[in-house]
Formats: sequence, structure tokens, C-alpha cells
Amino acid sequence: MKHIDSGLHTRGESQYVDDVPPPADMLYAAVFASPVAHGTIRALHTQEAKAIEGVVAVLTAADIPGENQIGPIISDETLLAEGDVHYVGQPVVVVVATSPEIARKGVQRIALDVHERPAITDPREAYTRGQVIGAPRTFVLGDVESAWATCDVVVEGSCDIGGQEHLYLETQRARAIPLEDNVIRIYSSTQSPYAGQRMAAKVLGVSNNSIEVDVKRLGGGFGGKEDQATPWACMVALAAWHTKKPVEMVLRRDEDIQMTGKRHPYASDFKIGVTRAGKILAFQTWHYQNAGAAADLSPAVLERTLFHSTNSYFIPNVQIFGASCRTNLPPNTAFRGFGGPQGMFVIESAITKVAEKLGLPREEIQRKNLLRDGDAFPYGQRVEEGRAVRTWEQAATSYDLPVIQDRVERYNAGHFETKKGFAVMPVCFGISFTTTFMNQASALVHVYTDGSVSVTTGGVEMGQGLSTNILSIAARSFGIHPERIKIESTNTTRIANMSPSAASSTTVLNGNATMVAIGQILDRLKAVAAEELGLPDPARITIVDEQVHYNGDETDWTWTKLVQTAYLNRVDLSAHGFFATPGIHFDKEKEKGHPFAYHTYGTAIIEVTLDCLRGIYDIDAVKIVHDLGRPLNELVDLGQVEGGLAQGLGWMTTEDLQYDEQGHLLSHALATYKVPDVYFMPDDLQVQFLENADEPLGPYGNKAVGEPPLMYGIGVFFAIRHAMRAFKPDADLAFTCPITPERVLMGLHAEERKAIAFTLATSGNGEAPTPIPAPSRNP
Ligand code: MTE
Ligand code: HPA
Ligand code: MOS
Repeated sequence: MKHIDSGLHTRGESQYVDDVPPPADMLYAAVFASPVAHGTIRALHTQEAKAIEGVVAVLTAADIPGENQIGPIISDETLLAEGDVHYVGQPVVVVVATSPEIARKGVQRIALDVHERPAITDPREAYTRGQVIGAPRTFVLGDVESAWATCDVVVEGSCDIGGQEHLYLETQRARAIPLEDNVIRIYSSTQSPYAGQRMAAKVLGVSNNSIEVDVKRLGGGFGGKEDQATPWACMVALAAWHTKKPVEMVLRRDEDIQMTGKRHPYASDFKIGVTRAGKILAFQTWHYQNAGAAADLSPAVLERTLFHSTNSYFIPNVQIFGASCRTNLPPNTAFRGFGGPQGMFVIESAITKVAEKLGLPREEIQRKNLLRDGDAFPYGQRVEEGRAVRTWEQAATSYDLPVIQDRVERYNAGHFETKKGFAVMPVCFGISFTTTFMNQASALVHVYTDGSVSVTTGGVEMGQGLSTNILSIAARSFGIHPERIKIESTNTTRIANMSPSAASSTTVLNGNATMVAIGQILDRLKAVAAEELGLPDPARITIVDEQVHYNGDETDWTWTKLVQTAYLNRVDLSAHGFFATPGIHFDKEKEKGHPFAYHTYGTAIIEVTLDCLRGIYDIDAVKIVHDLGRPLNELVDLGQVEGGLAQGLGWMTTEDLQYDEQGHLLSHALATYKVPDVYFMPDDLQVQFLENADEPLGPYGNKAVGEPPLMYGIGVFFAIRHAMRAFKPDADLAFTCPITPERVLMGLHAEERKAIAFTLATSGNGEAPTPIPAPSRNP
């Protein structure tokens, strides 16, 4: 089975929010956002905008009938700025007009008189100034303080980790339709329909049942619409409330990039202690998360950073500290991996630095310290059926790691200006929302009298293949053909109180809920068949390929006969199913518990070739062994692995978010913000799935896949560093990502760069120009 949307997508027929034919009297909204990173509003001039013909409403915080508050975890975020502005791009005014062009013209005529204040963009500076969101967290295992003395080698270092723009193809957008009795229906491109419903109700001062949110599909979310689709939904709802007309808002790409939060940049420190043989005895880390101007999901993201700070390794003595630091950037948010990748980057950096100090291959230390069954994570959970070693060994064997090592060494011995590097990247990622209560889902299933089936779940299709997965689960559970089943839009009137589609758990949670609902209908149908066909034991009835079987033998009843008979017997053909992940808990006081249903594991080997004179590089190969459980749909899952990898590679290499000191994003277009394209991806990309690896929680042995593969991309940083050190073994290289070609060049030629800068600075002063030293190594 293919991704069920692939035909519609290919023909351009899939409908997104603004593809649904607009109502005749629809209005369009645009946002005026703060041009400064920090300041106090003295005055807001909207008269000129209001005077434009076609402008219907100009809405500010004063026009909000309910609460001007949309913070999801902490109430620290206004929908429209009031009093102070905290980042460039913070929404201040919504202009509603008869066309998007007129609305944007109105935006241009708004003037904000603001008393500017100093802006903070650096998380360490925010931390020292006490700008911390929530309480800092510390996870402890063993005792690092007494362990340092037992280590043969201890090294310390710092990491500077960049953020990442989500770059979903479909920018943020929403459409609100006013219905009777003050009810508003919102079509939203959101991973969290319930958050949109709840917040729009709060902003309008109405109850949740006055707001309906409907989501057919997203043109990508990647975490960027887990929480940050909400403001636009609230704004169109507010506009529809005031104008009593349908209102749509579609952000332009540059607006979206400048106004929305991203993956969190982190500044982190580490200290690692090992034996001479490479056994890690102690690891300590400090994470300063750049949260941006409001909490958004940052405390939860930080928590996952702590959970994944030891990645796939067992370390007996660990201390992990993390703080969410408030800066004057757009509030940073969920992004595939949800803080996990940053934690993993730091431990991988620490291992690399200590390996370089010891003169051991990095992968030898990695392999020696892989998690084994029974090992404890710093948060208390133990490894049950760990697959860190299994995926590592399969990757090392089937991709011939010693041959790769040898090939790289021989190449480097024979080449001067180009060098090869490789890195092994193991990944261990916890599956479940780290916020335990969010691990619940429901489904609503209807069987119609013609035998066709309608399935609604609380899950959102964002390209990841959820609808395809749910469809195959439903077809398999019923024993009928997939063509009979429709997966409906996600809608808050059909499914209440849904969690966002996130944490890679959407299929796990909603697939199981679907099976619960179907199980109820099947029980009723089997009772009907037993009764009508005179069969003694309903438990022996199955439906196989649309035919009713008893004891494994075919009867002459078909699926439609069964359904129609049940209907005539007045049997309920609809059911609601509910699922909550069993056995998970976490105590935030003790920072111990069992937060994850299970972990997914995998290992990637990444090879690169570096042009050491230009700083540019090619990714030659990425070879992955990934633990998928038993895939529901191998093609869809392969798409997730490859897509996640591409995003991880981009994060590490070319995707460079540059802000100036006043907090303006400089790389706010695709001309300056570079994402991987098809040429950037390795020609040699191989993915193997672990065999015989069923996950009992399922559904059908399946394991979550959405986020973990992104973290294979981290390996490319260390592969490039490996090549850089082959060129210049004594280079003092920073753990700064993304490792853009510019950074590579500066890292390799730092002294030359200083000399050039000195020459440029002193020439023309009458002093003799300083000669530029020859390259430090010459063949
Ligand atoms: N794949 C596509 N095509 N588009 C997306 O937006 N989001 C990712 C991942 N894969 C995403 C995607 C993120 S951040 C998550 S959490 C999961 O999909 C969510 O879907 P799942 O829970 O069904 O895996
Ligand atoms: N992932 C995504 N969203 C979340 C999580 C998580 O682990 N925890 C709380 N919200
Ligand atoms: Mo994904 S970052 O959990 O939306």
C-alpha cells in the first residue's frame, strides 16, 4: 500500500485550508508585527490603516473579548502585544480587509511608537541576568563528584548548537467561519486541533463547545504547528467574531519565518571522564536553552534534552543540568526530536573530544559504552529489550565498518587538499509524550449499512502517513478491504480533548484507540452472526477478506450481509475507542520514573569528503540500521527515515539562522537559509530495518518512527570534523553547529585568517604589511 494521499498530492487535488472554495463574502487578515526586539509601546497608530478602502477591521489587544493569553504551559504569552513587545515579529495588530493585498497595505500604514530597551539574544547572558523560565532541572545518577578522581582522563568543553527553521511547505494559515449562536468553525493547519479550540475559546471568552476546529491535513508541521498554529487560528476567530464574516489568514513565507519560533539553539558545557581503555565513568552537562521570549513548549523540550543527554550509552555517574533561558527571539518550539537532538549532540561532542585526547577511535568509545539490558537511564527507567548493540553490530557487519575505516585512512594518506571522514551515530529515543497525561487518544468508527466505514481519530495527517497507517490498521482489524474505509478530517466535535499529533506517538495512540473501537463493533457483529447462523462460540468467528469464518472455515456470509443483518437487528454499528499508554509515570520532584513506553534504537554510518581549501563537502554515504518493530507500511516508514535524516543533516550543516544583535533574523528567505536538496543527499543511502523486532504495544508490532531518524544526521558533524582533523590534526576545532563551509574554512585556517585580518588592519598605516604565513602543513 502506498501513502494514501500520493495520488491526490501528485495531481494537485489534495485540499489544504485555502484550497477549499472560499465563501463569497470572505475577508482576509494580515498581521502587523513588532519591528523591535524589546521595548515598551508608547502609542499605536492605526487610523491610516482604518481609512484604506477595503479595510474592514483593525484589531488590537483591546478588541479581545476574553483573555489575551495563549501560553500552553505557562501563561506568559499574549495573542496581541499589550504594553511591551518582546521580539521582532511579535503580533501586535490584525488588519482585516476584502483582499489579502489590501490587508497587507493596511499593515504597512500602521505605526508603532515604541521606547526601545536592550535585547538579549544569548541564552548564557539571559541566564546570568536571571531570565529563566520555570525552574532549572537536574537529573542525577551515581555521583559524578567522587567519580572524577577514578577517571584516567577527564576533558571539558562547550557546544554552541544552532536552531532550525521548520520550513513546512504549507505556511501557517487558518480560516474561520462564523456559524449560528456565536459558534465559530476554524479550519486550521495545526498539529493540535484541541489547542486551537481551547485557546480560541479563551480569547473569545466562550466555552470550548462554541469553537469547532477541523483539520484535513497539513503540508508539513515538523513540530512547528504543535503549538504555534494556535495564534493564527485565534486571530481569524477573533476577526470572524468582530466582522461576523468568514476570515482567512495565510502567512507569506517571509512572515512565517520571521514571526514563528524554531528549534531551540542551545549553549551547553560538558565534562567527561573515562578510563584509558575508553570506559565512560562520569559525565556532566549543563544546557542553557534559548527559549525565546515566551515559554511556549520550552520546559517540555528542555526535559527531553535531559532525557536524551546520554543518548545510547550507559554511564554510571551522571549529572545533567538544564535551564530554559528567556531571550528576545520568537518563542522557540517543538521541532522533530523535541530537544533530544541537542542533548545527543553534546554527549557525542564529549565522546569525540575525549577520544581525540586519548588517541582512540571515537567509535571504539561509543561501542564500549552502548546500553545493555538492565542498564539504568539517569531518569530511573531501565533498558528492557535494548537494541543499541544489536543495531550497532548489524550496521558494523552488514555495511562493513572496518572496510570503511580502512578506505578513509588510505584515501587520507594519499590526498592532501581533500580528506575523507566518517562517523558512527547511534540513536536511542524514548517513545511517549514526556508529559504523561498527554498519552491518551480516541477514535470514532462508523460502519454504514452498505459496509463502508468511516474512521475519525484525534491524530492529524501532516505528511507522515498517519491516515495510511490508520487505514491499514482498520482494514486489518475488521478483515475488510482498505477501499471500503475513509479516514475523516480531524475534528473537535467528533473527538474531544485530543493531544497534539506529536512525540512520534500518533499512530501508537490513535491506532490503538481505533482498534479498541473496532473491537467493540466486531464483538457486536460476531454476536449477531453466532445467533443468526446458529454458531455456539462467537469467539471463533473471524472476518477474513470480507468473508465470515467460523473455526477458520469460510461461511457463506459476507461482510455486507453481516452488517445489514446487524442493522436490521437494531445493533449499534458505531463505536468510540479510547487508549491510554499503560505503565508510564514520572516524578518531577525525584526526577525518576518510567516516562517512556519503550525506546527506539538505530545506528547510522556517515561518510563525507571534504575540500580542505574551500571548506565545502559532500556527503558520500549514509547507511542506517533502524529498529521499526514490524512496519505497518514499509514505504511510509522508509519515507520517514529518509526525510528525518535529511532534516538532521541540514540542521548540522547548512541551515544557519543568523540574527543581528538587535534580534532581527537575517536569514529569513531561502536565498540565505539553505536547506538540503536532492543533490545534497548522499548518492549512497541505505536503510535496513531490524528483523524480528515486534513491539508488543504495537499496533500490530509496529514501532514509532517519526522523529528518531532525524538524529542520525548528527553524525555528519563528526564525520566532517574527522576529515578536518585528517587535514590538520592539531586544529583547535569548536563544537559549533551548523558546521557550514564557512565554519569549516575558518576552523581549518584560523591562523591564516588572523594573519590576513592583521594585514588588512595594518596595511595603509605606513607599517610594513605582515607576510601571510604558509599553510601549516605542506605536502
Ligand atoms: N513527516 C512529514 N512528512 N511531515 C511532518 O510534519 N513531522 C515529524 C514526523 N514526521 C512530520 C513528519 C514530527 S515532529 C513528528 S512528532 C511526527 O512525524 C508526528 O507524526 P507521528 O506521531 O505519526 O510519527
Ligand atoms: N514531544 C512532543 N510534544 C510534547 C512532548 C514530547 O515529548 N512532551 C510534551 N509535549
Ligand atoms: Mo514532533 S516535534 O513531537 O511535533
